[in-house]
Amino acid sequence: MFKMLIFAVSLSLAGTLLKDLNVPGGGFHVVGGSSIGKSTINHVAVSVWGDRSRFKTWRSTGNALEQIALIHNDNTLILDEIGEANKYEMDNIVYMLANGTGKERSNKGFENRETKTWRLLFLSNGEIDLRSIMQSIGKSPKDGQTLQIANIPADTGKFGVFENLHEFPSGSELADHLKDKAEYHHGSLGMAFIEKYIENHSRNKERAKFFFDEFKNRIQAENDSQVSRVLSRFALVAAAGELASEFGLVSWEPEDAIKAIAECFNSWLEDRGSGNTETEEALNQVKSFIERNEDSRFEALQTGSQPLSSQPVFNTVIRDKAGFKHYENRQDVYYIYPETFKNEVCKGICYKTALSELREKGFLKHDADRFDCKLPSNSTKKRPRMYAILGELLGESDD
Ligand SMILES: Nc1ncnc2c1ncn2[C@@H]1O[C@H](COP(=O)(O)OP(=O)(O)OP(=O)(O)O)[C@@H](O)[C@H]1O
Ligand SMILES: [Mg+2]
Repeated sequence: MFKMLIFAVSLSLAGTLLKDLNVPGGGFHVVGGSSIGKSTINHVAVSVWGDRSRFKTWRSTGNALEQIALIHNDNTLILDEIGEANKYEMDNIVYMLANGTGKERSNKGFENRETKTWRLLFLSNGEIDLRSIMQSIGKSPKDGQTLQIANIPADTGKFGVFENLHEFPSGSELADHLKDKAEYHHGSLGMAFIEKYIENHSRNKERAKFFFDEFKNRIQAENDSQVSRVLSRFALVAAAGELASEFGLVSWEPEDAIKAIAECFNSWLEDRGSGNTETEEALNQVKSFIERNEDSRFEALQTGSQPLSSQPVFNTVIRDKAGFKHYENRQDVYYIYPETFKNEVCKGICYKTALSELREKGFLKHDADRFDCKLPSNSTKKRPRMYAILGELLGESDD
């Protein structure tokens, strides 16, 4: 069985069932290393409805996003390579796609123009996920955002995204074969599916609902409202895959789609379980801020005969200073101004949670019963109270 291929084809069909099964829009993100066949999956998904002009990339969305979304209303949008997206807009784009609403605009007369709306599923891929992208720019995704786009780790550990090769000598040749075929054979499955579906609409709607419920019943997931939101999205995909099989349009057997998509769902669940908790997120955000700014926004503090820092200081002009770094007890300590810590380092998260976690894990230098401490004495400067993060948080130490 080709789990990811069944998933891709079923997902491509599933957008058409969103309305009948009353499921909110949302996305899936196939994550894995380079050259394992992620984009190949997208080519296969695109071929369900048409030629490669439907193959969109995150980069191509930009300002055209709303238009692209509208064209895919009640269907499935295929987007390649999240690494090409604008990192600073990622969270908003995912929100817009999944929620189905464009930006509100007013015309020259300042009357509100109608906001565009749509309902769609989307398939994306990349070597990293939304959470990692946001963290790389010091943002933290809210739980709801990561639910709008469900990660599916795709490397089977055998032949990239494929669990077997059938008659092909390598994963690479199988991938190239699929891309090649998609180039010439496309567009018929989607149309045939719709034709069959509407031929006996009320019966097929019931069948779709039957498969949808069947999928949900088979999955032994905790009864959690967040999980069940994502479960419904996977169940919709399974229902489309089973219907395609019942209509005799695909070569897989009854139940294959349910099984394949259940495996994808379980991969999502496992990946989510291994996800960071709020407190781990907070530590990561502080760490990432220091890593990004340690040379540019921390002034090396000279006290007594202590060396300036464990590392050479390249940048002596400090603009927009976040604080000081000072070498003590064989590691750098980063002293951060409280306001900078609250408003910048902990943007989007609770700064007290971050401080508690830093203190509990031993990454904070602090006075008894406090989170802060005074800057070490420096004859020329006052000694403000600051939050002092130990370099150990970054994995630094001279031991
Ligand atoms: N499962 C696989 N096993 C081995 N090689 C593969 C596999 N899938 C794809 N390749 C090779 O990698 C090339 C790129 O395939 P594809 O674009 O699908 O990979 P990708 O996972 O999207 O890679 P990237 O992360 O670079 O975007 C193919 O032309 C093929 O040569
Ligand atoms: Mg790719």
